[in-house]
Amino acid sequence: MAIERHPGGRHPGALAVPAVRDLSPYVPGKPISELERELGVHDIVKLASNENPYGPSPHTLAAMRAALDDVWLYPDGGCHALKQGLARHLAVDAACLTLGNGSNDLLVLLAEAFLTPGHSAVYSQYGFAIYPLVTRQTGARGIEVPALGRDTDMPLGHDLVAMTAAIEPGTRLVFIANPNNPTGTWAPPAAVKRLLERAAPNTLVVLDEAYFEYGRLRATQDGLAWLAEHPNLVILRTFSKAYGLAGARVGYAISHPEVADVLNRLRPAFNVNSLAQAGALAALADQAHMRSAVSQTMRELSRVETELRRLGLWTAPSAGNFLLLRVEAPAAPVYEHLLRCGLIVRPLVGYGLRDCLRISIGLPADNDRLLATLPQALAAGSARAP
Ligand SMILES: Cc1ncc(COP(=O)(O)O)c(C=O)c1O
Repeated sequence: MAIERHPGGRHPGALAVPAVRDLSPYVPGKPISELERELGVHDIVKLASNENPYGPSPHTLAAMRAALDDVWLYPDGGCHALKQGLARHLAVDAACLTLGNGSNDLLVLLAEAFLTPGHSAVYSQYGFAIYPLVTRQTGARGIEVPALGRDTDMPLGHDLVAMTAAIEPGTRLVFIANPNNPTGTWAPPAAVKRLLERAAPNTLVVLDEAYFEYGRLRATQDGLAWLAEHPNLVILRTFSKAYGLAGARVGYAISHPEVADVLNRLRPAFNVNSLAQAGALAALADQAHMRSAVSQTMRELSRVETELRRLGLWTAPSAGNFLLLRVEAPAAPVYEHLLRCGLIVRPLVGYGLRDCLRISIGLPADNDRLLATLPQALAAGSARAP
């Protein structure tokens, strides 16, 4: 049955609250199945969503398969075993933890819990796209702070001094992605600490460490060390990246227990499913597998960086499992050419970075394929290397 989209000139979507009605949705990386459907291309490599191509360990997969037997039961809504496992792993009290359907879920919960149309949130230009989205959906005002210039040590990175200065009395959340997506840039520990010290106690500082396990190798700081001293600090981490469980959707917040209590009250019941809980708990116990994936990825990242430079292309410094790459011309035709060759990367038009693409670091053979195809794609897009 076809339903007329605007019956009688009215449509029920118009009844949504104004902040939600005006939202533009987040545009994720193109799924492999969509490219197959649209262009009939096969043998596709996706380097578009910063996933970990080494995936979870056999031990983690076995735990998820075993959990299938009980899939007819609702999951443990309190995520008890996973919380205990995380509390041990992080050496924090379980009362400091909130589990989410990916850390994205926690960003939504933080905005819902702490923002109203009378409040504001501070984030950086080129900061992770979800920050403005969750801010706007509450009707709060987003304060976007210009990123560091291209001629600085951390081009396109967060300017934490300017972000500190942008905090207003009504600012309830400051979002810092360390390292940041899509730029890969990171903030030195002393700069994050300075912002924390200057932020008023009624402003929560959300330190998004989605790429923490990768960033460790490039001198980003473990924000956990500051938690006892700064009760307004909220740290976000995820199993989607280094732990290779993006499809399972598990993320967590580490915060003061009172903040965790608020988030846990707001959290939808059963927001982390039983397979995801089993997988995350098993993945935690398999640190060697995770570390091996991280070190192989970071080795590949250095190799890809060098090769891109050899092609005359500029990349932003990255402490994540991805690189932001400037093609010096509109990137859309380059992106389209890569798609036709079966390579999905991420265009960054939504970030105002029309001349850039973001590429996730894949398996060595996938990276080789990208590097081999890129010169033709640049030529096809009449993109000129500097
Ligand atoms: C900086 C950052 N934060 C949070 C997320 C959300 O990740 P997830 O919801 O998969 O945990 C991402 C995902 O790409 C990210 O890049």
